[in-house]
Amino acid sequence: MVIWFIHAFKGNQKKLAHLWRLDGARERLRLVKADLMEEGSFDDAILGCHGVFHSASPVLKPSSDPKTEILEPAVEGTLNVLRSCKKNPSLRRLVLTSSSSVVRVRPDEDFDSNIPLDESSWSSVELCETLQIWYPLSKILAEKAAWDFCKENGIDLVTVLPSFVIGPCLPPDLCSTASDVLGLLKGETEKFKWHGRMGYVHIDDVALCHISVYEHESAHGRYLCSSIVLDNNELASLLSKQYPSLPIPKRFEQLGRPRYDFDTSKLKSLGFKFKTIQEMFDDCITSLVEQGHLTQSV
Ligand SMILES: NC(=O)c1ccc[n+]([C@@H]2O[C@H](COP(=O)([O-])OP(=O)(O)OC[C@H]3O[C@@H](n4cnc5c(N)ncnc54)[C@H](OP(=O)(O)O)[C@@H]3O)[C@@H](O)[C@H]2O)c1
Repeated sequence: MVIWFIHAFKGNQKKLAHLWRLDGARERLRLVKADLMEEGSFDDAILGCHGVFHSASPVLKPSSDPKTEILEPAVEGTLNVLRSCKKNPSLRRLVLTSSSSVVRVRPDEDFDSNIPLDESSWSSVELCETLQIWYPLSKILAEKAAWDFCKENGIDLVTVLPSFVIGPCLPPDLCSTASDVLGLLKGETEKFKWHGRMGYVHIDDVALCHISVYEHESAHGRYLCSSIVLDNNELASLLSKQYPSLPIPKRFEQLGRPRYDFDTSKLKSLGFKFKTIQEMFDDCITSLVEQGHLTQSV
């Protein structure tokens, strides 16, 4: 049985419809209303579960009040879920969705292009605060709070650190990353300009990685989940060759950021193989066309 927590039910039949279309949903899916900011909201549904996958967190939305809208739901919300886990004697393992932004936001002089970043690295809280980049800050603080809580309370925690996620979009309303990709495919440069150099991963791999680190008894600690790291100009050149009928920008302004790569050997040692960047975009474009977000044929 899979229990899926939904934040806002009201008037949301459209928002939930894709979940009920999943294979076996009628037999094996249960939807439960919960709010990260409501103490005890997750207690009843988590009680008796062997595995908990905590993914909900505010993602990359513009905010005039980042403390209340981004930082608190991420950190307090994670702690609320963990408090419910602590009350559940059946819990075997908790898998938390963190982000590669918790390892890669560092001062330029801290990068060594010959040494790929791995799970031993943490982004700089000070740099995030100075640059006022609230999303990575929320993910760093949430992951650190989770590690502290789980150590104190003997909870078996594994974290997954995906890079920028691309692939088919199931919900009718696009999440922020899918709408950034749609913008790029329609020729906008603004959002991807700030990517500079970025890791990319297929959504299927992110899902599989969560299952894999839950099921492998020996899995432990943090797992970077990223197929490839590309400069935005490398991405633009690859995509405009692959999809010549789409008005994808051919070049981006260079931001002069240092080169880095990710070392994902820890996840690969569990037998994991990543999908390619072409599969990510093929699957994403197919679903954007099917959902009517993209009209041009590829
Ligand atoms: N997309 C990426 O490229 C990427 C990369 C690395 C890591 N991640 C991580 O992956 C996870 C999912 O992100 P996503 O890209 O799928 O974004 P998303 O579609 O915006 O998902 C965020 C989820 O968090 C839920 N949420 C937000 N505030 C909540 C609250 N107060 N109570 C309960 N639920 C709440 C949202 O529920 P409602 O819609 O009902 O509000 C939504 O389902 C996040 O932890 C994110 O940091 C994403």
